[in-house]
Amino acid sequence: MSYELILVETRGRVGMITLNRPKALNALNDNLVDEIGKALDGFEADENIGAILITGSEKAFAAGADIGAMATFSYMDAYKGDYITRNWERVKTCRKPVIAAVAGFALGGGCELAMMCDIIIAADTAKFGQPEIKLGILPGAGGTQRLPRAVGKAKAMDMCLTARFMDAVEAERAGLVSRVVPADKLVDEALGAAEAIASYSLPVVMMIKESINRSFESSLNEGLLFERRVFHSAFALKDQKEGMAAFVEKRKPSFDH
Ligand code: CAA
Repeated sequence: MSYELILVETRGRVGMITLNRPKALNALNDNLVDEIGKALDGFEADENIGAILITGSEKAFAAGADIGAMATFSYMDAYKGDYITRNWERVKTCRKPVIAAVAGFALGGGCELAMMCDIIIAADTAKFGQPEIKLGILPGAGGTQRLPRAVGKAKAMDMCLTARFMDAVEAERAGLVSRVVPADKLVDEALGAAEAIASYSLPVVMMIKESINRSFESSLNEGLLFERRVFHSAFALKDQKEGMAAFVEKRKPSFDH
């Protein structure tokens, strides 16, 4: 499979996607988002991949949806073409964990792409924003929905209504990102996190992702019930026998993946 707008590689059990449209600060056009989807299809089907990393350049993770490409859209172009839904949803449906490693701008659809991932690790240069209001539109890939869940209503309203950017320190304080690291350590740190995840039992990793995502869709009691059922099912895994035996025998576990 050849790609024009992204670089795709594997590092051990980690699948890595680097957005590679530098002249447009990785603005997300349809082809680029299609390519991300194809790369994810490949990594999901590959039993040797246990976690996925999406990153951009030093200057930009992604500066948003491609403004030039949508500038002349009519309502029907957007509606009939199912703009944003058609291919963007692929990131959301990925069952393996996806880490976004963000340096520089993560704006509009770029911030939304990062928020579709399971963990955001930010360089100290990262800037997050939903500046769509300046273009006469609103966020269309989750900015008004995922951002308030991540940072609360006050900051989400502030960002979407004033278009101000949030730097990495504020993003970590607000809960949008899990860690902030020096820019020159970003990929190593994110790869380290992805490698750690990929070293564990893949079914357990997928169960944890599914259970945490479930907490956003259900009442506490329904979520707790879901977690308990999944927890019980983990005792059917060889990896559970191996993980606990390894603890008792004071050795490293060797998971099936
Ligand atoms: N779409 C298309 N091209 C973009 C782009 C975007 N979202 N963002 C940047 N570019 C292009 C610029 O047009 C420019 O191209 P040229 O050299 O051919 O002129 C190139 O990338 C470099 O950009 P700048 O010269 O503007 O770089 P800068 O350092 O001065 O500014 C910036 C950087 C603040 C990120 C600025 O580029 C900017 O404001 N970009 C737009 C951000 C934005 O509004 N994003 C939201 C898009 S709408 C959306 O995403 C909807 C949704 O919810 C899905």
